[in-house]
Amino acid sequence: NTIKISAFSGSLRKESYTTKLIHALQKSAPESISVMRIDIGNLPLINEDLEADLPQAVKDLHNSIKESDAFIFATPEYNRSYSPVIKNAIDWGSRPQGNNLWNEKPAAVIGCSPYSLGGFGAVNHLRQVMMYVNLAPMQQPEFYLSNAADVLQQNGDVNDEETKKHIYEFWSAFEFWIKKIKYAHAES
Ligand code: FNR
Repeated sequence: NTIKISAFSGSLRKESYTTKLIHALQKSAPESISVMRIDIGNLPLINEDLEADLPQAVKDLHNSIKESDAFIFATPEYNRSYSPVIKNAIDWGSRPQGNNLWNEKPAAVIGCSPYSLGGFGAVNHLRQVMMYVNLAPMQQPEFYLSNAADVLQQNGDVNDEETKKHIYEFWSAFEFWIKKIKYAHAES
């Protein structure tokens, strides 16, 4: 049985490196894993007034979360933090109060930047929020894609051997992490 992963890109721009990185991860995923990229750009900004009658985009996000075994949060770095697009999706996924859909699900967090720090500040802040909503973020290997413009081709293919190796290692560790948490749930 296939492991279903929902992947979220924190960038809404068409030529986003972060979104291209998700494509690269989709292409290289093990056979036992399917990765669906979920568009979070059409969600309204978080607003408790909307909770009485949830907008369709929020309902769609909720369904995607419920159907997923695990998540990938890929984020650009905005002013040394992560993208508000991701924060908005995490916030909606945790609401209305008492319906935190992220609870105890495994997740991976990835930083992506055209510069040399690879989105470290973004990843560091994002992990903090993931803790609070009780996601289970994989600790290692960490994943920072630096110099994204050099590493990712126009079509999203990776043209750098070290990055390819890192993606391979990422997948084997993440598959193991997801199974470990699934097994723990099944046993308890
Ligand atoms: C940036 N950018 C940026 N880059 C970085 O490495 N560290 C940072 O703190 C910031 N800060 C920042 C703030 C804002 C508001 C914007 C719009 C951009 C540059 C950013 O990394 C670059 O635009 C990337 O190309 C964004 O990722 P995508 O859209 O290519 O996925």
